[in-house]
Amino acid sequence: MEYLATTSFAMEGVLKNELTLMGYDVERTSPGQCLFRGDMEALIWANASLRSAERVFLVLGRWEARSFDELYDGVMQLPLEDILPSSARFPVNARSFKSELFSLRDIQSVTKKAVVDRLGKAYKLKTLPEDGTDYPLMLRMEQDEAILLLDTSGEPLHKRGYRVSGHIAPIRENLGAALILLSRWFGKGPFIDPMCGSGTLPIEAAMIATNRPPGLERDFLFEKWGILDPVRTQEIRETMRSRIKPAETVIQGYDKEPRAIRMSRKNASSFGLDSLIHFQCRDLEEFSTSLRGGTIVTNMPYGERMGDREEMIELNHLFDRKILHLDTFRLGVLSGDAWFAQGKSRKPTRVRKFYNGKIITYYYQFEPLSRR
Ligand SMILES: C[S@@+](CC[C@H](N)C(=O)[O-])C[C@H]1O[C@@H](n2cnc3c(N)ncnc32)[C@H](O)[C@@H]1O
Repeated sequence: MEYLATTSFAMEGVLKNELTLMGYDVERTSPGQCLFRGDMEALIWANASLRSAERVFLVLGRWEARSFDELYDGVMQLPLEDILPSSARFPVNARSFKSELFSLRDIQSVTKKAVVDRLGKAYKLKTLPEDGTDYPLMLRMEQDEAILLLDTSGEPLHKRGYRVSGHIAPIRENLGAALILLSRWFGKGPFIDPMCGSGTLPIEAAMIATNRPPGLERDFLFEKWGILDPVRTQEIRETMRSRIKPAETVIQGYDKEPRAIRMSRKNASSFGLDSLIHFQCRDLEEFSTSLRGGTIVTNMPYGERMGDREEMIELNHLFDRKILHLDTFRLGVLSGDAWFAQGKSRKPTRVRKFYNGKIITYYYQFEPLSRR
């Protein structure tokens, strides 16, 4: 079987690594997504374990389509009734990249008609009731290849279930995890977020450190379809639980806002991770650490969304004084500031530019200058 996992643009390399480590054969990686092969059990393994993924789709079919007739005929050839029951409710979404077929509305309606015709024929029904369980379909056109996808996740995977309360500008959980993995922190050595907001990065770090799958306690849409034996799904969840291990390191989160620290503690405790993370209300001005050889990953306030430009510049200087000189630390800084690294005594080894929602952001990575 083929699956397509999606992630934030620029994070597909992290996703590919995760899939490869899980033993899946990644056939193709393109911006924001990975196509991979797996058995039926990949439904639960991938949905529950992938940290950087946003959704996992089952690939129902792929074929070349340069005309709407080819699109229609391709869908009609697929044994959709093997998965979709006669009562299935199947909204169809569409995307198109670099393809002759680009009108999303037409792609959507031709696909919908073909699915209706295929299922109608298979179930000998003139009208399909569409009053049952959801089977959300997505037709992606990519360089004239049509890919019919079935969303198996339901709620997007960044919704782990621990965020009992949001903060002013929380980072999406899967993007937070991807940034940590990009900084090559896999649970060894201290981890610090000096501006942790609602605690997303320390909480994701705690799950990495303990080998806890981020989606272990939540449900996925595919579980409503009966395509994977629920007993087997539970057995796999038990296997995942049995692989959770104690954290071997220090994880810390600081923020100047008492409200942020309260939220962080609440979020962490909803997943039973509060005892693993030291949260403390502390302004960056007061920050110091005797720890060495660790990793700092943080998400600077965005000028547009919180505080003004002058405050950003001041905070940037504060960062230089308090964090940049920690030369045994690897640093990862997500910032909306294109000039963040300018004039710094320590140069980033890598800068990635990408969209976080609608905001252009930069991920600045600094390698440690000395080992210990
Ligand atoms: C973009 S938010 C971080 C969001 C966080 N990653 C999350 O997922 O919730 C930036 C945080 O920096 C904090 N902050 C700003 N200036 C600070 C300072 N001088 N010292 C400590 N924290 C600061 C803000 O209170 C805010 O919570």
